[in-house]
Amino acid sequence: MRDDKATQHQPTRSDYKNVWMALSDTHDRAIMHVIGSNDESAFESTGAGTLKFLRETVGIRPDDVVLEIGCGVGRVGKQIASLCRRWIGCDVSANMLQFAADRLRSLPNIELKEISGYNLQDVPDASCDVVYCTVVFMHLESWDRYAYVLEAARVLKGGGRLYIDNVNLCSEGGWKVFEVHRAFPPDRRPPHITECSTPQELETYLKRAGFCDVQLRTDDSFVRAWGLKPPIQQ
Ligand SMILES: C[S@@+](CC[C@H](N)C(=O)[O-])C[C@H]1O[C@@H](n2cnc3c(N)ncnc32)[C@H](O)[C@@H]1O
Repeated sequence: MRDDKATQHQPTRSDYKNVWMALSDTHDRAIMHVIGSNDESAFESTGAGTLKFLRETVGIRPDDVVLEIGCGVGRVGKQIASLCRRWIGCDVSANMLQFAADRLRSLPNIELKEISGYNLQDVPDASCDVVYCTVVFMHLESWDRYAYVLEAARVLKGGGRLYIDNVNLCSEGGWKVFEVHRAFPPDRRPPHITECSTPQELETYLKRAGFCDVQLRTDDSFVRAWGLKPPIQQ
């Protein structure tokens, strides 16, 4: 049995707070774990890319209250906040949130919330128009992915929109990621290692949580899924 420091002190994957506090202990490491690079221009361009997907799927409207699950340092929030009424960034890591607060300092309509890693406990029922979660599901256990879809259903107003994504196991790019990560010996897998989703997995979560008009996009190495919380019947 292997018994060295690296494996002894590694938190488990689902100990999200300890895993992500450690990954974001400096600004450089936080940025690196958000986009895999420290290049600030890539940060801007990838944020704009995510905004484009959100506009093409759930849409962002001037009156919307928008909530991001796992907001990191505000890469996407920076693009969205000026386009909506209020942007709420939630994250398990207080370090990430501190960097987000610095980055988004000039934006008057943002709110940052530290969450447990398993739910949106302090967010009131039916208080948001859009919930999205991008490049986070790959780091979560599947049960916790679904828990956030259920929480999104709770905090969205009737007619509210949810967007989620992950690397698509069924794509060429997703399969490459799978093969690269398969090379880690089991006791050396980093706790935040990417685990892909199939389109069926994300579709199932949305439908089981009661979302309607569920749609999927699989035109690159990601699967993107979105749907509508059924409008309340008068
Ligand atoms: C790859 S970064 C993506 C950040 C942001 N969504 C973006 O696209 O720029 C993953 C983020 O998810 C957060 N995170 C990890 N596990 C989480 C959990 N269980 N609940 C909430 N946030 C989590 C991490 O702290 C980190 O900020």
